[in-house]
Amino acid sequence: MGESRSIGFFFLLLIFSTCFGDQTLDKITELPGQPKNVGFNQYSGYVTVNQQAGRALFYWLIESPVSRKPESRPLVLWLNGGPGCSSIAYGAAEEIGPFRIRPDGKTLYLNRYAWNNLANVLFLESPAGVGFSYTNTTSDLYTTGDKRTGHYVPQLSQLVYERNKGVQNPVINFKGFLVGNAIIDDYHDFIGTFEYWWTHVLISNSSYRSLRVACDLGSSTHPSLQCMNALRAAQIEQGNINPYSIFHSTLQR
Ligand SMILES: *[C@@H]1O[C@H](CO)[C@@H](O)[C@H](O)[C@H]1NC(C)=O
Ligand SMILES: *[C@@H]1O[C@H](CO)[C@@H](O)[C@H](O)[C@H]1NC(C)=O
Repeated sequence: MGESRSIGFFFLLLIFSTCFGDQTLDKITELPGQPKNVGFNQYSGYVTVNQQAGRALFYWLIESPVSRKPESRPLVLWLNGGPGCSSIAYGAAEEIGPFRIRPDGKTLYLNRYAWNNLANVLFLESPAGVGFSYTNTTSDLYTTGDKRTGHYVPQLSQLVYERNKGVQNPVINFKGFLVGNAIIDDYHDFIGTFEYWWTHVLISNSSYRSLRVACDLGSSTHPSLQCMNALRAAQIEQGNINPYSIFHSTLQR
């Protein structure tokens, strides 16, 4: 919970325009240590989003396999949360991307559950300052300190939806968004987290009750002493598990 909680979320768009002149310059022929003949195209590079601030965002676009007709598949924009989580280091490398990093730290292997099997996936490092995205003006960074995790995907979606209103053939043929493990508000986040722990038998009945009593309606940023104690007890009860993937061992090799 709180500061230590990293958030994965993403949203879904359909169709993106295909004719950019720089496309070939951004094409990745091969990553170091990657398997040969993967059968899909990938691109990456920087997009300057604010010339004056010198702000540029880094992207990595991974298309569906050529054999699966990427041109007729949807585009998924993936944004990790935080703010501060890198979409490349986390979303692409550990969650839904095509490559996994071997323990040697030098070679990659294919993730059979990669989302680009079904869609073109665009990983974007955002905001500036996260991962490979940067800004050349330090004052630019202060505008992004807000804790907005479960908020920027719905808000971006709403913006696209509003701008599309009344447009015959919008450039972004927006289909919907998905949010995973989002920070929405303290009340619902606490209830959801405790219910998840309890219904997955990670904590006992009595711990669940203690959490509900001690933390209900409270602030997750500044929890009460009772709430902190209940959280600590629940943490100990869960043991050494990966809270983001409870069915995996914590030492995956
Ligand atoms: C940021 O500054 C570097 C060094 O001067 C420059 O090469 C780069 O193009 C600048 N980035 C942007 C987005 O203006
Ligand atoms: C915990 O609560 C559930 C549902 O209320 C109940 O079925 C179960 O028997 C309880 N377990 C213990 C150990 O009290």
